[in-house]
Amino acid sequence: MDSSDQNRLSVSLIDVATGKESEFTELAERLGTLIIRKKYGVAEVIRDEAHPLRFYSVRRWNDAAAAAACHADAEVQALTARLYQIAKVTHVVNGARPADPLRLVLDDQRARAEPDRRTGFDRRVKNVGRPEGERRVQERRLGPRRLQHRPGEIDLLAAARRAREHADAAFSKFKVGAALETADGIVITGCNIENASFGLTTCAERVAMFKALSEGHRIFTRIAIVADTETPTPPCGACRQILWEFGGNLEVQLANLSGLLGTYNLKDLLPLPFDARLL
Ligand code: THU
Repeated sequence: MDSSDQNRLSVSLIDVATGKESEFTELAERLGTLIIRKKYGVAEVIRDEAHPLRFYSVRRWNDAAAAAACHADAEVQALTARLYQIAKVTHVVNGARPADPLRLVLDDQRARAEPDRRTGFDRRVKNVGRPEGERRVQERRLGPRRLQHRPGEIDLLAAARRAREHADAAFSKFKVGAALETADGIVITGCNIENASFGLTTCAERVAMFKALSEGHRIFTRIAIVADTETPTPPCGACRQILWEFGGNLEVQLANLSGLLGTYNLKDLLPLPFDARLL
């Protein structure tokens, strides 16, 4: 997300109360016109295709001062106060907020700080007892620790790989890691957690999504799923449903410990979905 003084962006998730849709549309239009007329920037409201009463408000500010002036504007405040009476508003990207260097550093560490793969739990177990020469060959085959991402971009696969190390897969021994990216560029991870009754097992993807939702995140862009397999490990049916309902048409990256194996759109993994539109 651009954190310079130019092209500042604010994104809010708006859940409109039942029966208040036309009032919301009228308010949104008036707010949009006001923002343009007073040269604060441009505003757009987009309906979520999976939720009939959910909208995204995207505001592109002319600059940081314009964003601040808009928030202080009495006319805007009066309309916003009405909006709050008919909708729940969750701020997802706050472009009016000055960039917080500490938070950027923490997010960066969370997503990027990848320990040497050889020190990971699984890797240590696999390498025990291997003659030195063989171990080198094995590492070569996995390839060097190349960065999978373009500079400046979050390394979602690294985050999922790290999360996988916390998996509690005592029964299946099948460890999975997931990393979910929010529209704000924050990465929330998950791993599978199994238990003795088996049926209460929760997959990595759902752990990541529920963690994210419980922390107030509502808009997501991508999810990476990592397992130690040659072929990709796609999300199970239950996870596809939860990801679709809460994340919409996410980009789904499937990977193993060596790297990306395939990228999909969730709508292709869950054709003909059941969701709130059908209730
Ligand atoms: N599992 C996941 O965590 N994600 C997937 O995408 C597939 C399966 C977990 C559930 C269970 O703990 C283990 O893998 C074997 O099914």
